Amino acid sequence: MRPMLFNLGIGDGLFDSLCGALDAQAATLEIRSFPDGESYVRALDDCEGRVVTLACSLDRPNAKILPLLLAAETLRDLGAAQVGLAAPYLAYMRQDTRFKVGEGITSRYFADLLSRHFDWLATVDPHLHRFHAMDEIYRVPARVVHAAPTLAQWIRQHVEQPVLIGPDSESRQWVSEVAAGAGAPFLILDKQRSGDRDVRVSVPDLARHMDRVPVIIDDIVSTGRTAIAAVSHLATLGAPPPVCAFVHAVFADDAEAMLKAAGASRVVSCNTIEHPSNAMDMSAPLAQACRDLMATSPERRR
Ligand code: R5P
Repeated sequence: MRPMLFNLGIGDGLFDSLCGALDAQAATLEIRSFPDGESYVRALDDCEGRVVTLACSLDRPNAKILPLLLAAETLRDLGAAQVGLAAPYLAYMRQDTRFKVGEGITSRYFADLLSRHFDWLATVDPHLHRFHAMDEIYRVPARVVHAAPTLAQWIRQHVEQPVLIGPDSESRQWVSEVAAGAGAPFLILDKQRSGDRDVRVSVPDLARHMDRVPVIIDDIVSTGRTAIAAVSHLATLGAPPPVCAFVHAVFADDAEAMLKAAGASRVVSCNTIEHPSNAMDMSAPLAQACRDLMATSPERRR
């Protein structure tokens, strides 16, 4: 039987591509709010005995998470043989330690919550920093898709003579991978963040690359302050206007407008979060991850 794919919050283009790549039935859930604000969930396709995947990008997660979990439980209750989650963007990965006394390690709690309701998880470049692997916090099989080859290909095709600029020391590993794929040199910023919207950066050793086009790459753009600080700093050094390429275009509030106003020549992102800047398609590797997880995960009926 063909697997079923439900769209609970990814772009239509990505959803159609995933359905095609997985040879999946595009299935529908009715989800709406009752007048009192509670969620109403109804499956409009019969999922008895079927392998189902919910596709939901978890940016702005708080509004999405309860309907998502209720949908997963509804489908399992209706006889789904396996319920997987394809979350191209996975939320709550950045609060991965107690930065201040009394804080919660919400990455861990969120992972625990999803692990209770899904049989597996496929995602794209989650923000693994102090946790090095998903199985440190997820109790179900979790497959990570890397965007580095896609970013490298886009840069190769669209930027002549690039020099890649990574946001912080933790990014060195994947920035170096993108740079190798793009056949370009790379630099890593010195970054200090002292608040949600207070970021300072400096670019070491740019002098020998002034004839190249800077490409600032980051896994997440949220407030945009990291990228804005980098763009502004490059301008003070007399570098050409940089291209900004992100995996996950969260873009809180007016971040995108501020980034363009700061002097970015072009802003592009992967289609893990639907956004006008989407220029790189992650459907093929994400579908492959889902296919592998479906094939290797056991059935878990209620
Ligand atoms: C941080 O470790 C990440 O790699 C990004 O640099 C960060 O999430 C960007 O956030 P913002 O856009 O709020 O500066």
